[in-house]
Amino acid sequence: MSKPSKKPASAYFSSGPCKKRPGWDMSKFNFDNLGRSHRAKPAKAKLQEVIEKSKKILKLPSDYYLGIVAGSDTGAIESAMWSMFGKNKVEVLAWESFGLDWAKTVTDQLKLKDSIVHKADYGKLPDLSKVNFSNDILFNWNGTTSGVCVPNANWIPEQRDGLVLCDATSAVFAMEMDFKKLDVVTWSWQKVLGGEAAHGMIALSPKAIERLATYTPSWPIPKIYRLASKGKVAEGVFKGETINTPSMLCVEDAIDSLDWLESIGGLDGAIARSKKNLETVKDWVKNSNWADFLCEDQNNLSSTSICLKVKDKSFLSLSEDDQKSKIKEINNLLDKEQVAYDINSYRTAPPGFRIWGGSTVESSDIENLLPWLDWAYAVVNA
Ligand SMILES: Cc1ncc(COP(=O)(O)O)c(C=O)c1O
Repeated sequence: MSKPSKKPASAYFSSGPCKKRPGWDMSKFNFDNLGRSHRAKPAKAKLQEVIEKSKKILKLPSDYYLGIVAGSDTGAIESAMWSMFGKNKVEVLAWESFGLDWAKTVTDQLKLKDSIVHKADYGKLPDLSKVNFSNDILFNWNGTTSGVCVPNANWIPEQRDGLVLCDATSAVFAMEMDFKKLDVVTWSWQKVLGGEAAHGMIALSPKAIERLATYTPSWPIPKIYRLASKGKVAEGVFKGETINTPSMLCVEDAIDSLDWLESIGGLDGAIARSKKNLETVKDWVKNSNWADFLCEDQNNLSSTSICLKVKDKSFLSLSEDDQKSKIKEINNLLDKEQVAYDINSYRTAPPGFRIWGGSTVESSDIENLLPWLDWAYAVVNA
């Protein structure tokens, strides 16, 4: 197979931190707040701006709180678990690495002995009909390391006794989400926004706010996760008064990403871009004699973390170690050619590829990458 002649204009397809937005130019940032206190009026206004712009773009229900916390998405979801769990029985849905991590927090750290973990293998979703919503639930909207997402929130009832916590970091701003069905939603700036890592966002429904105000867990909560204190919600967190010191440079960058998102048609525009990226890969997979989606059900296909497996029988007859080293060789080749960076599957996922299809990625770049993937696969398996 001859080498394709056209390269993607950008080789950035990492699933986190993700590609910066088209036209990103840091020299246009406002640096006036760098070196000033984040509690000073203009700096606090910037933090509030991130909150208000995010709420507006996402059309978050008006009675939801939205706050900025430390520790990126991990910090956001862990703070929710540590602050709210323990009152009810907990059920975790886990179908890839991050869901399994949160299940471990519940079973091994919080030691909630009677908790239930609904597991599924890479490529599948657990049986959603088995979830009991009298309990507190935790799930990831999109399994970033398997490319499997929930298709919608129809499986979550309007009326439910327990809280529904959702780590949606690789879905928010790229997928349609029904916030009314979710009591806690977390994400970070480094995913669909193509922002910088370090900070997390946490959205809370009135029910989640009530849990914070009326329930105190039996375990100690580190200051960095403390969303309430002495029976009072830390209201300031949701008004730009972060628990600890944020990076005002990252804040500037987040505002830049949000402004870009508004300029491309807000949420609808962002979702359309991500969908187009998935469609581009779908068209290619349809005709591929060696690659397929890791996700088994088309209804659950992620448009952001697009995960591919190899279906070619001669490849599958190799040991897993040999498969992994072939995939690595392909990745090295693509990296050397500067056509794709960081598209190997997640370290604990089955050998394969993961192409980020979030809103900052141009579908023309994915289109130009795919013939290179065919070429590299042929070279390494020749
Ligand atoms: C579903 C999910 N949860 C959590 C994380 C961790 O995110 P962060 O490093 O921003 O805390 C990731 C990162 O890829 C993720 O995809």
